Amino acid sequence: MTTSAAAVQVNAPAYVQNTKLIAWVAEIAALTQPKDIVWCDGSQDEYDRLCKLLVDAGSFKKLNPELRPNSYLAVTDPSDVARVEDRTFICSERKEDAGPTNNWCEPAEMRAKLQTGEAALFKGAMKGRTMYVVPFSMGPLGSDIAHIGVELSDSAYVAVNMKLMTRMGKGVLDVLGTDGDFVPCVHTVGAPLEAGQADVKWPCNPTVKYIVHYPATREIWSYGSGYGGNALLGKKCFALRIASTMGREQGWLAEHMLLLGVTNPEGKKYHVAAAFPSACGKTNFSMLIPPEGYAGWKVTTIGDDIAWIKPGADGKLYAINPEAGYFGVAPGTNDKTNHNCMLSVQRDAIFTNVALTDDGDVWWEGMTDTAPAHLIDWQGKDWTPQIAKETGAKAAHPNARFTVPATNNPALDSEWDNPAGVAIDAFIFGGRRSTTVPLVTEARDWTEGVYMAATMGSETTAAAFGAQGVVRRDPFAMLPFAGYNMADYFQHWLDVGAKLQAAGHGVPPVYCVNWFRKGADGKFVWPGYGDNMRVLEWMLGRIEGKAQGVENAFGLSPRYEDLNWDGLDFSREQFDSVIGVDTASWTQELKLHEELFQQLSYHLPAEMPATKAKIEQRLAA
Ligand code: GTP
Ligand code: SPV
Ligand code: MN
Repeated sequence: MTTSAAAVQVNAPAYVQNTKLIAWVAEIAALTQPKDIVWCDGSQDEYDRLCKLLVDAGSFKKLNPELRPNSYLAVTDPSDVARVEDRTFICSERKEDAGPTNNWCEPAEMRAKLQTGEAALFKGAMKGRTMYVVPFSMGPLGSDIAHIGVELSDSAYVAVNMKLMTRMGKGVLDVLGTDGDFVPCVHTVGAPLEAGQADVKWPCNPTVKYIVHYPATREIWSYGSGYGGNALLGKKCFALRIASTMGREQGWLAEHMLLLGVTNPEGKKYHVAAAFPSACGKTNFSMLIPPEGYAGWKVTTIGDDIAWIKPGADGKLYAINPEAGYFGVAPGTNDKTNHNCMLSVQRDAIFTNVALTDDGDVWWEGMTDTAPAHLIDWQGKDWTPQIAKETGAKAAHPNARFTVPATNNPALDSEWDNPAGVAIDAFIFGGRRSTTVPLVTEARDWTEGVYMAATMGSETTAAAFGAQGVVRRDPFAMLPFAGYNMADYFQHWLDVGAKLQAAGHGVPPVYCVNWFRKGADGKFVWPGYGDNMRVLEWMLGRIEGKAQGVENAFGLSPRYEDLNWDGLDFSREQFDSVIGVDTASWTQELKLHEELFQQLSYHLPAEMPATKAKIEQRLAA
């Protein structure tokens, strides 16, 4: 339903019964002054219509339907290719509650900048554009773990991506009813159009960006970017930053974790939750295909990026994937590394910032062993292997991504949509570290597991703006996503475990992994991908009391003979080079833990320095 008028009409469809929603849409329309308002119903017709509109505007290219049915390519402004962590704010009332790892601004000051001040950015920000009302549910519709959000966005790209990434549309409004609660999410690309002004293919504000969260009122305001987590507000902004604050208040966890099911040849199924920082292997691990020698084993995907985890009445931790699609890294994805992913993106996909082939398909670095002879790169330029060799030009941006519905995944777990979630049997935390951190270590108890997760370091990737390959602490893979003080977040994790244990329940074991140690030749030593199954099998063996390991300063790791090497040629020497805990490196590493603790000294749980002291003692022994 569309309306145009000097003062834009809200014109909510009859099925919209929520008066608070209607009033809020009117308020935001008055502030941002779009030319019209479209209420998204989430239908396939609507999706097709909006995609066509994007094609007509030159924003989408429809891919060759014979090669890539029902799929599109979008390329962005070069200024808008990743999350902008330095432009992301947690506007809690008190600075301490955002903590030293988040950007903070007083709510009133931020509101003046965005909404109320003389030159407030959102004033008239949607001029000349359509405002889409996008109602979405994070989690199965009506599940009592799920929560509803409504995103108002002046980007049709956002509307169609939200259709793939969430349960979006009319059904959500039915659940919302007359007085249901929703998280209000306001998004503008920050590029108003004056009368007669021609639009560009990727509207955004190249210089001004704000990704703002008000935890107290559970509001999200995003300005200036159309890309990924900056703009698809159900994802990082809601399902991690706002949800983590809700979880803290209500006794649950919102985590940057994949969820997988793993079934052994005896038919016993386990569920594992794993947190790796951005572009460090969650999508890949969640779609793992067991290697040769693993006949009868099966890995199934519940989620690839975010998990909401709640203690159940039986003392188990139940997890759902709040999302309904994948916004995954394209480069490096191929039939060998992630066959299930390649099958998932075979149709119904939106690709962003990958290269276009001459026959109307897509390509990215690492998709095939040999690159096509000619491509149009993500910046619209001719690309050949020769040009790449001479100039270093990438065909696809390193943070190029695909958006695809979860239901395209051939390895989708049968429980992925279960409103009750799945019971977690193990937690895994892992960073990207070319040195120091062993392939796998088991924490001796919950506290040591929290310590491992809290002190995790990782080399930065293209998923966020900034220098790449620099080791930084990324506690719980949540550094850019925790909606409150990181030290309080550690305490919350300790509390969740303590509460379960006090009630006589067990807690899942915690593991730390690192697939990314490099040899003297600069290459990854561990084969990774499907072979990560060997590590997963060892973990399950530990749970079943079958697998052995030895203690080191950091935790407990397998010996060479404790892993299954069927079908892989991997020497004891190679294994030693990925599993060792080197005293000199760890002495250095512990200094970095100390730096983190200094930074997080306000509210830092005493268990953190106490655990560190024990590691130091063991290292010295
Ligand atoms: P976000 O979507 O940013 O949260 O990332 P993610 O954690 O889902 O990362 P993803 O699985 O997309 O992997 C990112 C990059 O790491 C890709 O280029 C992969 O090919 C590479 N990668 C994933 N798993 C492995 C592995 O086991 N070993 C190695 N060497 N590389 C891996
Ligand atoms: C990440 O950066 O961790 C992502 C991609 O999953 S985005 O949604 O853009 O944050
Ligand atoms: Mn992510």
